[in-house]
Amino acid sequence: MSALAAKRIVILTGAGISAESGIKTFRAADGLWEEHRIEDVATPEGFAANPERVQRFYNGRRRQLLSDAVKVNPAHIALAELEKRFDGECLLVTQNIDDLHERAGSDDPIHMHGELLKMHCTRSGEVFEIHGDIHAELSCACCGKTGTLRPHVVWFGEMPLQMPCIEAALSQCDLFIAVGTSGNVYPAAGFVQLARHAGAHSIEVNLEASSQHSYFDEHRHGLASEVLPRLCEEILASS
Ligand code: APR
Repeated sequence: MSALAAKRIVILTGAGISAESGIKTFRAADGLWEEHRIEDVATPEGFAANPERVQRFYNGRRRQLLSDAVKVNPAHIALAELEKRFDGECLLVTQNIDDLHERAGSDDPIHMHGELLKMHCTRSGEVFEIHGDIHAELSCACCGKTGTLRPHVVWFGEMPLQMPCIEAALSQCDLFIAVGTSGNVYPAAGFVQLARHAGAHSIEVNLEASSQHSYFDEHRHGLASEVLPRLCEEILASS
């Protein structure tokens, strides 16, 4: 039987799947972490020290995400198609805070690192949609106060979202695919090992070998927009 003949698939995506949509990755030579210090813009401490700088960073990313320059690419579309046509369970987990999986038609992907088009109140935890800028004068709809709203993104040192649900799916999956992630940030970097422990076949889709590549059974190197449509068709043909 083909290793692709799966019943329960978990797919993890990272910044690489959105690179061809016009969104910078983090760790490339021209990536976001070359231009900004993680400590300054992606930690609770950085936010406490300089909330305006952090809001400016995410406001800029939000504007770019909503600009005409950013569009879904064939990799996002292939995953949405797979989810629709696959005759089993298929969970899409993304580390990305963009909404490109939803725009491509994926139904309710798990955004384990949060969402750029949402903000939350630091007093109540209530989550709101936001398409404009978050600024100091913006008052919160739940408490009426200003200065309580922050991007609904998970920073370094904070707990990723929906981990029990992700771990439950990993513990039962028979196929695990990681797309466009460098495998540097846990817990996502450890998902391949959890899936292997469950007996799943694992495939890495990336331009190059990631930090976790030795844990994968199979490697498909190339652009996600070229590799994924083919891989998804193979899965559908095998299942
Ligand atoms: N197709 C396939 N893979 C690609 C492509 C592409 N077109 N372009 C880039 N890649 C790969 C790179 O080779 C790299 O391994 O995508 C990966 C991107 O890695 P990172 O920039 O480290 O992004 P990611 O793994 O998603 O980062 C994880 O780190 O900073 C945090 O919270 C942030 O969610 C993010 C997390």
